[in-house]
Amino acid sequence: MRGGLRERLRGVIPRETLSLVPRSYDIIGSRGKAVAVVEIPEELRPYEVEVARAIMELHRCVKSVLAKESGRIGDYRLRRLRLIAGDPDTEVIHREAGCLFKLDPMKVYFSPREATERGRIASKVESGERILVMFSGVGPYPIRIAKLRGDVDITAIELNPDAHNYCIENIHLNRVEDRVHPILGDVRDVCPRLEAIFNRIVMPLPLGAYRFLDLAIPLLVEGGILHFYHWAREPEIFREAEHLVLEAAERFGRGAEITDRIRVSQYSPRVWKVRVDARIL
Ligand SMILES: C[S@@+](CC[C@H](N)C(=O)[O-])C[C@H]1O[C@@H](n2cnc3c(N)ncnc32)[C@H](O)[C@@H]1O
Repeated sequence: MRGGLRERLRGVIPRETLSLVPRSYDIIGSRGKAVAVVEIPEELRPYEVEVARAIMELHRCVKSVLAKESGRIGDYRLRRLRLIAGDPDTEVIHREAGCLFKLDPMKVYFSPREATERGRIASKVESGERILVMFSGVGPYPIRIAKLRGDVDITAIELNPDAHNYCIENIHLNRVEDRVHPILGDVRDVCPRLEAIFNRIVMPLPLGAYRFLDLAIPLLVEGGILHFYHWAREPEIFREAEHLVLEAAERFGRGAEITDRIRVSQYSPRVWKVRVDARIL
């Protein structure tokens, strides 16, 4: 989210700290109630309350401002977030492309920046598909797909109990109970017990999804599509991801054709989140 935050803070915080004020921050929620998640550099910390107040004035919907205290850590891919100002109740309902996602960013992974990517995946799905979303979080991928395509059957697996519980609520909020089936658990335990096979598998865990390719490949029908996410370094950002997928398919005696490659987002100057799609034969 960009805006006139620096302008609003002119004359409020020392002039030499203005350039430290972040140019962008995430807003999660809706018009009624939202939280802002912002990065506060160390030197700006004495003025963080002023920054938070300015964000809340700029966006009247923002009732809480959280500071990022770490990168994403652990299996649940959570950040440590600290309340700088506003309401300590940070549960919100986020609106995205006609869908509603209830969540608390203190407890679950969610990124509003991935809305376009979720839309890209949803638009690839065809009628009647059976889909597996591994690492499903609060349900944004399965729900975006289910809202766009009425006649699909989606299994969603998530490890974090808080995210799974929000996913159940979100399935009801979006009235897709007949199409999305959430399972709490580790994909390592759950996948081998699934009785179905799938036309499409989505693997939105860029840090380490490759460790789970051996679970995904055998669950795809012949000609099924894999959406594989990976952190990748320049210059050849798709090479490693493609190699990992082709090699995993080969281990199961399956062929694979790469059908799409996307730069999803930039993590640092030379590191990208990428998606490689493959048809598994
Ligand atoms: C990067 S987040 C993506 C969440 C969701 N797909 C989204 O886009 O908002 C990855 C999710 O995978 C879950 N996760 C990590 N390891 C897992 C595992 N072994 N089995 C199931 N879920 C796992 C985490 O708890 C986290 O919610």
